[in-house]
Amino acid sequence: MDALDANDNMLALAKEKNVYGRLIQDFLGTNRLDVEDGGFVVISMREVNLRKVPEYRNLEPRMAALQSEGCWEQVSRDMFPDYCEGEEGIMFVYRVC
Ligand SMILES: C[S@@+](CC[C@H](N)C(=O)[O-])C[C@H]1O[C@@H](n2cnc3c(N)ncnc32)[C@H](O)[C@@H]1O
Repeated sequence: MDALDANDNMLALAKEKNVYGRLIQDFLGTNRLDVEDGGFVVISMREVNLRKVPEYRNLEPRMAALQSEGCWEQVSRDMFPDYCEGEEGIMFVYRVC
């Protein structure tokens, strides 16, 4: 399992956990990520942010568009309690095509 974040400081924290293989400093955007076909992309966040943060409101439509374009397919979309500061979390898993 690899870790990807735009922020070097967050990758340094991820490294301390000793559970990640590659630490990839990249920006999740329109660029193609350094993830092999068949690899999985896991995204977790506070569920409320999908509605509260203006930049995130288009996230699910954009992820669905990437699926329509054949870039990846959704494996799961799960919510779970007490992710961060008592708020629910949501985790998306996609398989890269
Ligand atoms: C709340 S922190 C979560 C950090 C960690 N992944 C975790 O779950 O504990 C959100 C992280 O998302 C990263 N981030 C936000 N937008 C990003 C993007 N477009 N591409 C890559 N990383 C991004 C930020 O740098 C920040 O480290």
